[in-house]
Amino acid sequence: MIELPRDSGLSGYTLLAAQLEALLADERDLVANASQFAAFLFHEVEGLNWAGFYLARGDELVLGPFQGRVACVRIPLGRGVCGTAAASRQTQRVDDVHAFPGHIACDSASNSELVIPLVKDGRLIGVLDLDSPLPARFSEADQQGLEALAAIFLRLTDC
Ligand code: SME
Repeated sequence: MIELPRDSGLSGYTLLAAQLEALLADERDLVANASQFAAFLFHEVEGLNWAGFYLARGDELVLGPFQGRVACVRIPLGRGVCGTAAASRQTQRVDDVHAFPGHIACDSASNSELVIPLVKDGRLIGVLDLDSPLPARFSEADQQGLEALAAIFLRLTDC
């Protein structure tokens, strides 16, 4: 039984960080932890229609554990929002995906997107991709909070 902090006085991303630490504390497997993290984000972060991973495989990203509608499976590094985040190793926070050159539309309901590159010991592991039907869903504070969650995932997972 995993005890997730609830009445701790924590809130927002500080609470989510404490919950994620508890959720991943006893397991280090990549598929298991990525699956748990995707489900956790999809249900705990408001306004998402997709949350999940693309994993680096050679010069492509390949679909990993996710929650949401079925998605494109392979994305070349440098293509779309995910491929740009992977190639540049820079978070991509996109208020309007329709204005992003080369955006890959997996779900026409998506309007904004946040993609965080996952880099461990200098190696690109993949990206964490969050999509929203809301325009400009992700603020600077969301980016910082979600990057902190991604760092917890990387620290607690063998990859
Ligand atoms: N929109 C992404 C593709 C992945 S889906 O959103 C799940 C992109 O342009 O890279």
